[in-house]
Amino acid sequence: MKITTSPLQPTRRGTFSEWLVERTGWKGLTYPVPAHANKIWYLLGGISFAGFLILFATGIYMAQFYNPQPGDAHQSAVYLITGVPLGDLIRSIHFWTAQIVTITVILHLLRILYTASFKRPRELNWYIGLGLLFVTLGAVYTGSVLKYDQEGLEALQHSKEAGELMGALGAFFTSEFSRSASLLTRLFTTHVSILPIAFAALIGAHIYLINQHGISPKASVDATARKTKGEGESRFDIHLRSMIGYGLILLAVVMSLALLLPAPIGQHGMPGAEVTKPWWMFVWLFPAEAALGARALIIVPAILGGLLLLVPVIDRSPYLSPLKRKWVLIVAGIILLILIIGGIVAIIQPIAEHLG
Ligand code: HEM
Repeated sequence: MKITTSPLQPTRRGTFSEWLVERTGWKGLTYPVPAHANKIWYLLGGISFAGFLILFATGIYMAQFYNPQPGDAHQSAVYLITGVPLGDLIRSIHFWTAQIVTITVILHLLRILYTASFKRPRELNWYIGLGLLFVTLGAVYTGSVLKYDQEGLEALQHSKEAGELMGALGAFFTSEFSRSASLLTRLFTTHVSILPIAFAALIGAHIYLINQHGISPKASVDATARKTKGEGESRFDIHLRSMIGYGLILLAVVMSLALLLPAPIGQHGMPGAEVTKPWWMFVWLFPAEAALGARALIIVPAILGGLLLLVPVIDRSPYLSPLKRKWVLIVAGIILLILIIGGIVAIIQPIAEHLG
């Protein structure tokens, strides 16, 4: 009698994508991507995305204990730190991830600017990216208010004053906007629902367009902007593996920072007092505010936002190389330097009252 052997022989260990293709037939992760896409400068968007996942997970946990009523908010944040299992650690991971994601998003923007990856056909993705920058900074600002200590209260009072100066456009930031929900409660809603929904919509569009265009070509001397979909020496699953690797490194870094340096919280805020300075990502506004008052909170971000909107309009040549776009990069460098100097001046400047 003939004996047949099983066709399932032990095989070498394959990659995850091979595993996936064998079981599902889906080859969606194996399309080609350029090799330079696996360098850290081209992974900053992916690292920021991983950071947002950490922020969502830790934020969902904290939202179970936080009370957004002005009378209870600070106490509930203190309870989160002192009474909730792992509350202090989770809050600190959230805090440090927010700081690092702000840095990676800014570096991602600077990489795009330096390698001219916003040029045709990627202009629309530059504007979607600006939306993501707005969401990131908006989440940092609304998050910093929630603990409702002195720092948080002052941040809230500054936005109230700027909102009043903006008239109908700033109505959301005034107490008169809603009789039934305080501004703090509405900033909480913005932090936990409006901004995350905006993030989901924008990142979906961002990734769709990256997939349609392919990663921009390497910005070598004669390189010009073009679509690269379907080209490349590497594969997306290899790119994804690097992204996950950096995401895990980010998780290890924020967990270590959270254990070594727990997120700070001050005393309950005193209305009317001005004794703190803004967080580092907004601190460059401080000297401008000292000179112009709360108007600076509208004028300076409007000028910077306007310049960022103009980038694809001003830098229109097809060239990617920084050597062929010296003037644009020199102007961008000078603006960056002014912001850094503004931040340094703010650190040495004495605390001053700007409100009212
Ligand atoms: C939450 C913030 C953001 C996330 C999670 C994100 C995510 C990503 C990812 C994963 C990529 C693929 C390549 C890479 O990582 O470099 C990318 C590419 C891109 N991003 Fe973002 N991004 C964000 C913010 C921004 C900002 C602020 C801008 C600029 C205003 C921007 C503009 C672009 C452009 C133009 C590309 C195409 C780059 C190329 O083809 O080389 N993004 N983004």
